[in-house]
Amino acid sequence: MLTGAGVSAESGVPTFRDAQSGLWADFKPEDLATPRAFRRNPRLVWEWYAWRRKLVAGVNPNPAHLALAEMESLFPEFHLVTQNVDGLHQRAGSREVIELHGNITRVKCFDEDTVVSTWNETGDVPPKCTRCGGLLRPDVVWFEEALPEGAMERAGAASARCDVFLSIGTSTVVYPAASLPYEALRGGATVVEINPQPTPLSEQAHHAFPLAAGAIVPELLAEIKRLRGQSGAPAKANP
Ligand code: OAD
Repeated sequence: MLTGAGVSAESGVPTFRDAQSGLWADFKPEDLATPRAFRRNPRLVWEWYAWRRKLVAGVNPNPAHLALAEMESLFPEFHLVTQNVDGLHQRAGSREVIELHGNITRVKCFDEDTVVSTWNETGDVPPKCTRCGGLLRPDVVWFEEALPEGAMERAGAASARCDVFLSIGTSTVVYPAASLPYEALRGGATVVEINPQPTPLSEQAHHAFPLAAGAIVPELLAEIKRLRGQSGAPAKANP
């Protein structure tokens, strides 16, 4: 399955593209989420991510995150691929999460590209790498940057061989992540979309539920449990 910002919307994390509340409604991606933007104004970029990090730390997983975490334990093979950097799936209890766009809680050195866990609080914004003196930045994928090594390969392989693919809370416009449901369609999977708004995928999905994830995902979980209770056998589906 693939999740996007919409799965965290009900936790209070703004999405990127929703017209009124989306993050990109107030900020231009090229001002904040590119290596060039960071070189131009590292302080602005660091502070924007610091604000988002604080926001994320102050919210909780919602019923959709919790239901997905429980679903993982019901299937022998279950792959949760997320574009989100908020770590809410893991905080809800999901164990196997493929993070395509990194994680906002981690910090790495801009020059060395290595994750660091500590730095000296010298008052520098952004702080500096204690090894090389380079600037520190969030460990997230910016526009024009490559995805974490191997992440897209694992996500693509899982999508191509799954029986059921859920696409939840994503506008399905940012590639390569947006290619995954189409990969699943080509592999013969049943593709289910959950999104209150139509997306480029909606027409091709086998089922498109125009509903909020926090309402429908727990219902889906309840239905899976009910069906398993009836058959007494582990489900073969592989969302
Ligand atoms: P978007 O902001 O593009 O899309 C969020 C989607 O969630 C929209 O289609 C909404 O209709 C839907 N949505 C809103 N509330 C929802 C709810 N309660 N339940 C279900 N769906 C809901 O976010 P993403 O598709 O995740 O990348 O964006 C993809 C990438 O673009 C992000 O990972 C980020 C951004 O630029 C990087 O920063 C690299």
